[in-house]
Amino acid sequence: MRKFQFQPSWVTLILVIQSVAVLMIFQSMVSFRFVREAKAVCTGGTPIIFNFGDSNSDTGGIMAGMGYPIPLPEGRLHFGRSTGRLCDGRLIIDFLCESLNTHYLSPYLEALGSNFSNGANFAICGSRTLPRMQAFALYIQTLQFLHFRSRSLYLATQGHTGLLGEQDFRNALYMIDIGQNDMDAAFTEANGNFQHVLSRIPPVIEEIKTAIKQTLYENGARKFWVHNTSPMGCFPQKLAIPRNDDTDLDEHGCLKTYNNGAKAFNSHLSTVIDALSLELKDATIVYVDIYSIKYELVANHSKYGFDNRYMACCGHGGPPYNYNHSITCMGAGFQVCDDGSKHISWDGVHYSEAANRVVASKILTTEYSRPRINFEFFCKG
Ligand SMILES: *[C@@H]1O[C@H](CO)[C@@H](O)[C@H](O)[C@H]1NC(C)=O
Ligand SMILES: *[C@@H]1O[C@H](CO)[C@@H](O)[C@H](O)[C@H]1NC(C)=O
Ligand SMILES: *[C@@H]1O[C@H](CO)[C@@H](O)[C@H](O)[C@H]1NC(C)=O
Repeated sequence: MRKFQFQPSWVTLILVIQSVAVLMIFQSMVSFRFVREAKAVCTGGTPIIFNFGDSNSDTGGIMAGMGYPIPLPEGRLHFGRSTGRLCDGRLIIDFLCESLNTHYLSPYLEALGSNFSNGANFAICGSRTLPRMQAFALYIQTLQFLHFRSRSLYLATQGHTGLLGEQDFRNALYMIDIGQNDMDAAFTEANGNFQHVLSRIPPVIEEIKTAIKQTLYENGARKFWVHNTSPMGCFPQKLAIPRNDDTDLDEHGCLKTYNNGAKAFNSHLSTVIDALSLELKDATIVYVDIYSIKYELVANHSKYGFDNRYMACCGHGGPPYNYNHSITCMGAGFQVCDDGSKHISWDGVHYSEAANRVVASKILTTEYSRPRINFEFFCKG
């Protein structure tokens, strides 16, 4: 464990992030894991992707939008520098972009060095669906998209070149991965009342439905890709909450109550996506069961080369969880492990690059998708 010390302003950042919710060798080791590296290479041209979500798919939005520096060890693998991702390296969406042979998505709010020729990423760390008009809720992200769209089309009429056109927006893939922070907030305010958690789910799913149908579909989007929510009961952050006994732990050591909340969310989401698929006949909406992929990672962790299924790499306090609610990753006095590839969890909430790589490769098998559509379907054309 290495110890780091940051100036006090870090504490503020961590609080915000929380409330809103050399190593190349290891990388090559990771590829020898029990994973089929599915590759979907685009032959029909550059794919175009618009992504909406929270920290699970934020490729630099919070850093650009709020001006927060997110320093090393975030991004220490692959990038070797901070990119605004809350991870030691790449996120699931980065691996999905790699599989289509396209560059990583530029955050919509990143003013310098962005390249929006393959789409844009509207995901922002800490985002929820509700309240609707609070930055950067899903609704606001979709409004930002509409602005991006109308501005692209307008500028094209003014003689600007290299912009996405009507047909590009129609052919693009629209990805949504949100809900984790809504569920997190629901559990916090429920204070042990599970019925209250359940009551918070329908309005959240309604927001996702509105984003797909009212906002995106009505504006020409036809291809959607929706991730369900993670088994939060397996997060070191949740496991480290003091408890009287272990009766809430399941056979794999995850908290049943949190996971039951996530499962209830997913079951509702899945029903609504099925209904939307029937209703929007000329649209393709793929529902991806991220929960099962991530739960399997915990259950069968050694099969994927992970020694530590519940212990964060970056945190404080050592085993079993290396998670302390007052000293989180990047907080004053945090510690970080040397080899994050042995950990499923990077910081107690977010997954390590090694885990994201496995998750992405499982997504690409289509086994967890409904309908089972190959990812190259989303190549331009
Ligand atoms: C933006 O990305 C496209 C597709 O990857 C590439 O062809 C183009 O050269 C890039 N533009 C800049 C300015 O880097
Ligand atoms: C773990 O792996 C075994 C063998 O591949 C499989 O049968 C089982 O369903 C997996 N466990 C979970 C929770 O997915
Ligand atoms: C968190 O860390 C501080 C400082 O080491 C310690 O005093 C406190 O007891 C820890 N909290 C828990 C719940 O372990």
